[in-house]
Amino acid sequence: MAIDNVLKLYSETIRSEFLHYGYWNNPELIDYNKVTLNEIKTAQNKYIENLSSYIPNNVKTILDVGCGIGGNTKFLINKGYNVEALSPDDYQKSILNKKFNGKIIFHHTKFEDYISQNKYDLILESESACYIKIEKGFKKAKEILNHGGYLLVSDYFVYFRDETKNPHLKSSHDLNKYLSSAKEYGFKLIKEYDQTENTMPTLDYAKYFFERFINPSLEYGIYSLNKNFPKISMIFKKLASSKFNKKKEQLKLINSNEFRKYRKYMIFLFQKENI
Ligand SMILES: C[S@@+](CC[C@H](N)C(=O)[O-])C[C@H]1O[C@@H](n2cnc3c(N)ncnc32)[C@H](O)[C@@H]1O
Repeated sequence: MAIDNVLKLYSETIRSEFLHYGYWNNPELIDYNKVTLNEIKTAQNKYIENLSSYIPNNVKTILDVGCGIGGNTKFLINKGYNVEALSPDDYQKSILNKKFNGKIIFHHTKFEDYISQNKYDLILESESACYIKIEKGFKKAKEILNHGGYLLVSDYFVYFRDETKNPHLKSSHDLNKYLSSAKEYGFKLIKEYDQTENTMPTLDYAKYFFERFINPSLEYGIYSLNKNFPKISMIFKKLASSKFNKKKEQLKLINSNEFRKYRKYMIFLFQKENI
């Protein structure tokens, strides 16, 4: 199956074991001039630490859906859970094979297409719910959870829409639609937490990094191309200008105020009702 190259880029640059936003305890105290890559990794560890505190005591078996590069899987195994992992991505499959040396069960498929003989006490969707079709996802979760089993979701949802084409309005589910679909498929919401403020420092740091390092480097590169190869520079400008403008629009994705306007980053713990 295909490779998600954006996720691959994150994993190769940040080089942590996670592909999520991380969780910051005191966002208001952060000085972005001093943030290190290690602190980002610490925040990513904190995220799964906090998320795993929502796992009810009677849970033993977990399916880590959209397991990424296996950081959450490893954390949960170390906590003593019996964990299987699932991802449709070829690159992630190869990373998991290396990381666990074939010692865990890995399902190479989309969740919606997963055919299982097993049932689980809990399904974890850590920043993967937004990739999974809402109704098919709940239907599958219902099918493969034990009686009274749990669905633990941590992801961003759209709670406000306007007429703009803001990129925050794409690639995530509508919050109300998600919750009403959960009810329809017999999932009772038993806990929720809005972790937006705890996740935004990662975006703020990405914006800081872009403005401080990437943008000035790009500007210097363009200046240099203009000065040394004016003809090539002209052709390049003609070919790339429309794409460049589209990419500039994408920068809104690392603007935390734009995020807050449209999205909430939620933790939801659902329990399958026995109906
Ligand atoms: C942002 S990453 C999150 C990875 C990991 N859960 C974490 O918290 O670090 C999203 C994950 O969802 C996976 N994914 C995408 N579409 C999926 C689908 N239809 N079913 C299951 N997983 C999917 C991606 O391959 C990736 O592993």
